[in-house]
This record gives sequence, structure tokens and C-alpha cells, in this order.
Amino acid sequence: MSDDPGLFEIMQTTRAMRRLKPDPVPEALIAKILQAGLWAANGGNTQRWRFLVVKDAKIKQAVQVHYKRAFDEIIGPRYLASQPPPGVTAEKYRRQHAAVEYLTEHFHEAPVWIVACLEEGAEPPPRWAGSSIYPAVQNMLLAARALGLGATLTTRHLFFEKAADGALGLPPGVRSYAILPVGYPLGKFGPVGRGKLSEFVYKDRWGAAYPGL
Ligand SMILES: Cc1cc2nc3c(=O)[nH]c(=O)nc-3n(C[C@H](O)[C@H](O)[C@H](O)COP(=O)(O)O)c2cc1C
Repeated sequence: MSDDPGLFEIMQTTRAMRRLKPDPVPEALIAKILQAGLWAANGGNTQRWRFLVVKDAKIKQAVQVHYKRAFDEIIGPRYLASQPPPGVTAEKYRRQHAAVEYLTEHFHEAPVWIVACLEEGAEPPPRWAGSSIYPAVQNMLLAARALGLGATLTTRHLFFEKAADGALGLPPGVRSYAILPVGYPLGKFGPVGRGKLSEFVYKDRWGAAYPGL
């Protein structure tokens, strides 16, 4: 019998792991994560996704400046003014805020970033554009968790998307959709905090309870 957690346990414990060790991640594991990304669904199987793996400290530092600015100007104040979401206690929410602030300061110190991009051309992308890259992002988060690596889905750099994509050196027509800082976690994997199914699921009519949940 294998001790490896099954898919449902992996999903339940794939948390944002914001505190990471600076230790390098073996190439074979990075390749496994990327392969998991490529197994994801994408519109028409056109595979316009591109994945920029960034280890260069200067590039990461140049992007972190925008990530931090967005925290200082937008996200930090928003956290202070908001209530805990469903399934999350005030104490857990406070710890989440502390972890978010920690990642903000240490974003560039993650040994590896996977930057998930789409090659879209000059036209502004349609509303559904992200649906061809976020399944790959989720597959990579699950794969990292299964391999004992921590990662976080981050999009905050997009508050300053032109400047951040410029710092990443993306060519015209290519946009980043997420940056996943990946590394060995400092903390432990644990279950995510979410509300109950009955809070979010309706039957036939909007707002009508789905029996049995
Ligand atoms: C679209 C999206 C964008 C996110 N951007 C960030 C981010 O920029 N920085 C960050 O620390 N976490 C980010 N997160 C992670 C969420 O904050 C996290 O999933 C949420 O707080 C729940 O925590 P958990 O996944 O550990 O349960 C993002 C998640 C999503 C889905």
C-alpha cells in the first residue's frame, strides 16, 4: 500500500503555501509540475499557453517591486477593512493576512517562479481568456502539493500588468496570468478553510436549497 495521499486529500490540502525555504527545487520536479500543467484542458486544445520559469534573482526582484506596491496601495488596506470569509475564523484570517504580507516581502526569494502566460496577439483578450490557462495553473498547484512542494496562485502583479509583464521580458502579444512562487514549504500542509456546500449550491432555482447538503 502506498502512503501517498489520494487525489481528494491532495485537493483538500492544497493551500497557499506562502512561506518557502530558499533551497533549490530539483529540475525533475519542476518538469513534473510543468507536465501536469500541460495535461490541463484548454480552449480548442490550441495550447496558446507558455510557461516562463524564472530563477534569475534580478528579474524576480524587478517584478516584486510591483507586487509590493499593489499590497501597499490596494491589498493591505483592503485586508484591514474586510471581514473573515466563510469557513474562516477571525484568528485564521489574521494569520492569512500575516502570511500574505510575508510573501509580499519575500516574493522574489522563492527559488522558482512559474509564470503562466497566454500568447494572445494584439487584441484585448475576451472575458473567458483566463479559462485556457487557470486549469493548467490548478494542475500545477496540485502537482506541487503532491510532490511535497509549496506554491501559491498569485495574480497581484496584474494591478500593474504592463510594468510587471515588461519586467518579465514578455514579448508583445503575450500576457502573464499568474505567478506561482514554488519551493519547499516552511510550514505544514493542512486542510483549506471553506464554507459549507449548502452555502453555495442551489437546486433548479437561484437561492433554493439543494436537499441533503
Ligand atoms: C485568482 C487568485 C489570485 C490570487 N492572488 C494571490 C496573490 O496575489 N497573493 C497571494 O498571496 N495569494 C493569492 N491568491 C491565493 C488566495 O488568497 C488563497 O487561495 C485564499 O486566501 C485561500 O487560501 P487557501 O488556498 O490557502 O485555502 C490568489 C488566489 C486566486 C484564486
